[in-house]
Amino acid sequence: KKVAIGVDIGGTNTAIGIVDPEGNVMVKDNIPTPSHGDIDKYISDLALAIDELMKSVKLLNKDLEFPGIGIGAPNGNYYSGTIEYAPNLSFRGVVRLVELLRNHFPKMEAMALTNDANAAALGEMIYGGAKGMKNFVMYTLGTGVGSGLIVNGDLVYGSDGFAGECGHTILIPDGRRCGCGALGHLEAYCSAPGMKRTAFELLAQYNATDSLLASKSFNELDSKMIYEAAVEGDKIALEVFEKTGAWLGQGLADTVHYLSPEAIFLFGGPTAAGDYIFKPTKEHMEKHLLPIYKDKVPILPSKLKAGDAAIVGASALVWKELGK
Ligand code: BGC
Ligand code: NA
Repeated sequence: KKVAIGVDIGGTNTAIGIVDPEGNVMVKDNIPTPSHGDIDKYISDLALAIDELMKSVKLLNKDLEFPGIGIGAPNGNYYSGTIEYAPNLSFRGVVRLVELLRNHFPKMEAMALTNDANAAALGEMIYGGAKGMKNFVMYTLGTGVGSGLIVNGDLVYGSDGFAGECGHTILIPDGRRCGCGALGHLEAYCSAPGMKRTAFELLAQYNATDSLLASKSFNELDSKMIYEAAVEGDKIALEVFEKTGAWLGQGLADTVHYLSPEAIFLFGGPTAAGDYIFKPTKEHMEKHLLPIYKDKVPILPSKLKAGDAAIVGASALVWKELGK
């Protein structure tokens, strides 16, 4: 039986899993993503972790075969197998990830890297709520905001392999500074850190010392706490969701105008807040839409299992490569 290896490179952690063709994670592990750039050591740690996982799963079933490795990463480039100038990773410049990892697995049939949100979109299409859909968009809300665009049943890569960076849609001219260095991008408002910035701005603006969020430091606060405070009726927390939804809805409306998707999926920590985030997002998206699109594009929560989605998505890339 053939099983796929999925790797998700995140800002602090790299998750690795062996995933069966039905999308179930059989075994998984984590290694730290380096906080400063010793790439060679990182690649050998990654190769070692993959080897260990293959060994451990072979103990369960010695007939398993491992035809490929799929990797998802911020600012990942499918064509060149590189990670380039990733704002939320410590890697500098261009990292030739596939080439370096290839040296450790010369016989592996398929090895491919794509943008992390593209991988999530593939996962959603093959195993999640987008089964059977040919045109949809995936937005991932985390440390950054990513997107994967599926058009005519396939990921859109564009001329150079980087298409679909909707997190860097310009929302507010000369607005907040984004992780990439530019001003006013959606990511600076709708990512998890963006929501925290909104919370802190509102706390200061209203001098809201009675808010449940008032005693938290920037590092302590997360989107779950904002959600829990909203459930308690905390005015600041409620306004954070209202504003985040307004901003996200604006960005999603642009995406609908470009692509006319069947649906938009949202994935990531902030989506655990359910209606607190989905309702204002939907309302504001509708407000910005041309009449031809109104009430036609549902905004849906990803159906991938939160902890596993990224590796499952990355593993889906293997089957796609093998099928080519
Ligand atoms: C990066 C994207 C990535 C997203 C989520 C953004 O800052 O530019 O490539 O998909 O973060 O990790
Ligand atoms: Na993308």
